[in-house]
Amino acid sequence: MTQAAPLTMGQQFGRRSWAEPWKIKMVEPLRMISRQERQAALSEAGYNTFLLRSDDVYIDLLTDSGTSAMSDRQWAGMMLGDEAYAGSRNYYNLESAIQSYYGYKYIVPTHQGRGAEHLISQAAIKPGQFVPGNMYFTTTRLHQELAGGVFVDVIIDEAHDSASLHPFKGDIDLDKLTALIERVGADKIAYVSLAGTVNMAGGQPVSMANVKALRGLCDRYGIKIYLDATRMAENAFFIQEQEDGYASTPIAAILREFCSYTDAAWMSAKKDSLVNIGGWLAVNDWDLFEELRNLVVVYEGLHTYGGLAGRDMEAMAIGIAESVQDDHIHARVGQVRYLGALLTAWDIPIVQPVGGHAIFLDARRFYPHIPQAQFPAQTLAAELYLDSGIRSMERGVVSAGRNKETGDHYYPRLELTRLTIPRRVYTQAHMDVVAEAVKTVYDARERTRGLRMVYEPKYLRFFQARFERLE
Ligand code: F0G
Repeated sequence: MTQAAPLTMGQQFGRRSWAEPWKIKMVEPLRMISRQERQAALSEAGYNTFLLRSDDVYIDLLTDSGTSAMSDRQWAGMMLGDEAYAGSRNYYNLESAIQSYYGYKYIVPTHQGRGAEHLISQAAIKPGQFVPGNMYFTTTRLHQELAGGVFVDVIIDEAHDSASLHPFKGDIDLDKLTALIERVGADKIAYVSLAGTVNMAGGQPVSMANVKALRGLCDRYGIKIYLDATRMAENAFFIQEQEDGYASTPIAAILREFCSYTDAAWMSAKKDSLVNIGGWLAVNDWDLFEELRNLVVVYEGLHTYGGLAGRDMEAMAIGIAESVQDDHIHARVGQVRYLGALLTAWDIPIVQPVGGHAIFLDARRFYPHIPQAQFPAQTLAAELYLDSGIRSMERGVVSAGRNKETGDHYYPRLELTRLTIPRRVYTQAHMDVVAEAVKTVYDARERTRGLRMVYEPKYLRFFQARFERLE
């Protein structure tokens, strides 16, 4: 096994190291409880990291959602909240930020991403219609199904292979999509559900060439493209770095160009946009906008606040502008890659290439002796917490849920444990500690046993399921 000292990022990429384009103004103390206390907390939580109390967590890599550190400017913006019920000035600031950075015409705010997914699914899917997309996402697919849609995965095959080095594993396979359209007919396709980057594939990007070609194909059949823009700023970074012709194009311009090939977008602003809560829908079609603007008052709140406080919308408007700065995105993805480089140097199996928001440990290769029905990725998340108080999450068979028709588990090819990096929160030293913890758990892998599920909720089971250790 290789034990080489990890390279600095500079050595890795043959250039000088980068540093974060900010300094720290306020800190939040961390605490690590004892191993005995961690074992008690883990049993209490049914071996599900979603059920731990955050006070019992040392380094929290559960998610990058709503966990970012806001800037001094965003906090200053919070003080400018106009908490009028209707027509808050912060709504108009948000509207113009989305129009100028994403380029869509009409905006509907929502409390977070799944609020937007609910509305777009209800408005745009007729029962029995198909919704092709580049790999499922948990809440996205659920809302599509609740609206009567049938999700069909049309991502390229490489996305399902954790070792494939394809630079754009988020791309749609246009042949798979064409075959679906030819089989069911264009009028049975609600829309193409395109996500950049693809969370469940490991934060993998979609290329500009792919979205352009997709636009051409969809125009031929009169099919709309709706974008999950949750991590599109990170997607733009990969286009800038990996795709011909974009090396000197700013992230902001790449983001706008990408969005211009799509008809509408929904957003969980809790990721790219550096806020703790918020989301939106944005569309170019007036009729669709009218319907969404009407639906939002049923489920979220008036169409000029959508479940948010004025101050939240202000923080989001400022966060959007910060999120597309090149130096911010370089440092953000750079930190994820730093952790990836440490683990790769120790031959620990992770999804390659490293994506935008997280390191995904490949639990199949980590625990080859644990069958998927004994939840290897869930087991790995539990072991990592036990070893060092680091919280990660399962992205495998538990997250995939059950097939509604047959009642069987979906068995995804990817059985992953996600170490998700919050934006602007942890330092390089934290990443070193995380890498060493993963190595310790890896070295003990042969002695590790799997889990059995003892409680399973009906929807999005990974959030609340409970497990016991197999003897
Ligand atoms: N789309 C993507 C790609 C997401 O990653 C998420 C959330 C959503 C939509 C839903 O947005 O949470 O604001 O309602 N992902 C989080 C995660 C939960 O941890 O990956 P939300």
